[in-house]
Amino acid sequence: MKEYKDNMNKELQADEQELQLSADEKSIFDQLGIFGKSRRRFLGQSSVAGLSLMASQLISIDNVFAGENATLTPPVPYKNSVDVSFTINKKVENLNLDSRVTLLDTLRERLQLTGTKKGCDHGQCGACTVIVDGKRVLSCLTLAASCEGKQVTSIEGLAEDNVLHPVQKAFIKNDGFQCGYCTSGQICSSVALMDEAKNGDASYVTEDIMDVSKNLTLSDEEVRERMSGNICRCGAYTNIVAAIQEVHQGRETDYNWQ
Ligand code: FES
Ligand code: FES
Repeated sequence: MKEYKDNMNKELQADEQELQLSADEKSIFDQLGIFGKSRRRFLGQSSVAGLSLMASQLISIDNVFAGENATLTPPVPYKNSVDVSFTINKKVENLNLDSRVTLLDTLRERLQLTGTKKGCDHGQCGACTVIVDGKRVLSCLTLAASCEGKQVTSIEGLAEDNVLHPVQKAFIKNDGFQCGYCTSGQICSSVALMDEAKNGDASYVTEDIMDVSKNLTLSDEEVRERMSGNICRCGAYTNIVAAIQEVHQGRETDYNWQ
């Protein structure tokens, strides 16, 4: 009997070696109570890829349930890490990042600045808009590594000393949002848009791009065009334009809601 067991174990070890099971994958079998013959049968019927997927899922679940000890850092070391230093909302951050990580994921996952939203993650909705060196950018299409030495402002950096930025106030007064998912991107975009008007930057609907002066006064049509990269699924566009015009044209309006 003992000899039979030893032989079984030897064969099992040979199978596991042949399939190159990791320690995690082996422990999955133990957790599932699959031993001896059953394990051999299971190995024969399943692919290592499937097992690896199951292992990684269970490991993530373990991390989630680990509470305070749970970590958001990836379980494997970065293969192409880079040191990046940039200023975010007036605070210098020195980070070691995977060279492929986006600014959006860096803000949300590394710096816990979750005000910037991930909508499409494909550069199509504008929910992830932040301001880099005074220009609005889509953070889902911007590599964090490309921000070396730059000044990044996200929605969390617009208010100062607990006083809202005028555009933030105007969005509230004009009821420029419903669910709010697009709003941080809309507001960052609007803040940068004001500077574009001050600098005399042309847009698609500028009538004569050879004759653009500084301190442009933007029509509603211009505002709509310049904000067309920011989608609002709730359709709050009319109030968003009103909020922007309130700040852009310096007119004080009352709350349009009670
Ligand atoms: Fe970046 Fe949609 S999340 S454009
Ligand atoms: Fe809901 Fe714009 S307020 S998507």
